[in-house]
Amino acid sequence: MSQSYQYDVLIIGSGAAGLTTALTLPAHLRIAVLSKGDLSSGSTYWAQGGVAGVLDDTDTVESHVQDTLIAGAGLCNEAAVRFTVENSRSAIDWLIEQGVPFTRNDASAAQEQHFDYHLTREGGHSHRRIIHAADATGAAIFTTLLANARQRSNIELIEQQVAVDLITSAKLGRNDSHADNRCLGAYVLNRASGEVDTYNARFVVLATGGAAKVYLYTSNPDSACGDGIAMAWRAGCSVGNLEFNQFHPTCLYHPLAKNFLITEALRGEGAHLKLPDGERFMARFDSRAELAPRDIVARAIDHEMKRLGIDCVYLDISHKPADFIQEHFPTVYERCLTFGIDITQEPIPIVPAAHYTCGGVVVDQHGHTDINNLYAIGETSFTGLHGANRMASNSLLECFVYARSAANDIAQQDAVTQSATDLPEWDASLVTDSDEDVIIAHNWDELRRFMWDYVGIVRTDKRLLRAQHRVRLLLDEIDEFYSNYRVSRDLIELRNLAVVADLMIRSAMCRKESRGLHYTLDYPHMKDVAQDTILRPAKVDG
Ligand code: FAD
Ligand code: SIN
Repeated sequence: MSQSYQYDVLIIGSGAAGLTTALTLPAHLRIAVLSKGDLSSGSTYWAQGGVAGVLDDTDTVESHVQDTLIAGAGLCNEAAVRFTVENSRSAIDWLIEQGVPFTRNDASAAQEQHFDYHLTREGGHSHRRIIHAADATGAAIFTTLLANARQRSNIELIEQQVAVDLITSAKLGRNDSHADNRCLGAYVLNRASGEVDTYNARFVVLATGGAAKVYLYTSNPDSACGDGIAMAWRAGCSVGNLEFNQFHPTCLYHPLAKNFLITEALRGEGAHLKLPDGERFMARFDSRAELAPRDIVARAIDHEMKRLGIDCVYLDISHKPADFIQEHFPTVYERCLTFGIDITQEPIPIVPAAHYTCGGVVVDQHGHTDINNLYAIGETSFTGLHGANRMASNSLLECFVYARSAANDIAQQDAVTQSATDLPEWDASLVTDSDEDVIIAHNWDELRRFMWDYVGIVRTDKRLLRAQHRVRLLLDEIDEFYSNYRVSRDLIELRNLAVVADLMIRSAMCRKESRGLHYTLDYPHMKDVAQDTILRPAKVDG
């Protein structure tokens, strides 16, 4: 039987954004944090490189701001960039207070760097400013925040719960006007019982991560299906800049390696990109060579692979001392060794893969969406920080800064916000069990393949049109399936991936230029004036 629950704050997502929000909210609030798989199933756990911030006395806010604006190719919202960078130090101090075991400097280096912790460098950064825990920063942060959340009696961490849709006053016909629309909770599939439960909450926070699973090849874990973006869109929120999908240049190329990233910090510490004959090629594309921003490096690799008809290129750090490599990159070293690649002795075969969703649900500095009491934070949101290309390690930073800001905002609204009564239960009276799950599996594969082929690193109008035609067919088929059969995790995710794919294609079609991560052969130049692509349900603004 389905259940109904009541909380002050419902946080959908247990990654960096969700856990930070939960830990920052006042202790008198009753909070549920949901994860659709295990609590560690988001991207956060897998983050390698680190968190960017202005930490060393010789670095400046202005320098971090300028690097971010340059990487964002003229499309960043400067106020969002300044807000994030100005709050980077306090967000990282908070992580240190939480007990995250970041890698420390030895005494002489600490003096030289004016900071106790080791700072590394990544593409686009003109300064060493990435704090990290060796090459497993995400696991160190996640494990620490989770342990702290488990100590808090007001926080319930609930696994294997898949949010299906948001409940809003507009959907229930309880609004006087559009501006009154308020989020009242969510319907959530309990994977153990197979029932859809009703969560009533005074505040709802979407912290569901990105949508890179929309592509066939990705560095992301299976959870990255754009669920929050699709739910917010269906509920009436606008979305922004979804044409900007970041492809990480260096994912391990091996038939048995699923989604394994080779951190950009390798390049930061001197690794070279090479062709099969050993030639270094990046200087032909950009004077910053291996340390150019990701869009440039990924496109250069794609270009060389297509030009030479090769399956991969190589990343080589074997010229560095073996003990340096093992100390700084233990995760990459061990993982590659399991595939028979000793990175202290030989180059690593790599390919680009979908990595990060720069666009998302439009929010302000407090994570407010277009719907009252609904917040979106982390990779699911569009704050304006990343512009047309996210700079390395600015993503985790954004999660912490905006989660803390959203939590403080909720604390301020707390006294004046009542909960709604009588939310209707999920209606499953007209659906039956599916006898054709093959359709779901087939559509998953088809969607991810045409997105890779037609909406990938290099685009054209014709490819986008083809993709749009196919996604519209899939959307019709999925809608029919959704109306007739009981929901499952696979069906919910497929429905959301198709919605997000459609939004990405529409956004890409609106952009008649090449800028940052959006590169099209039909409009190879950048326009003089930079404009966001904001889509509003039932209305499109290009
Ligand atoms: P996530 O950590 O992805 O968490 C999403 C959560 O939402 C999960 O708990 C998931 O189960 C839950 N969820 C999703 N849908 C639903 C649903 N329908 N119902 C219930 N729960 C749901 N960024 C950096 O800044 N530095 C790095 O070094 C770095 N390295 C990276 C390495 C890898 C391999 C990857 C994949 C990403 C990396 N990134 C890095 C990006 C960064 O890790 C992510 O952008 C960030 O962790 C996103 O955090 P989040 O809290 O928004 O979402
Ligand atoms: C990496 O370690 O290369 C990933 C960093 C990021 O995505 O910000």
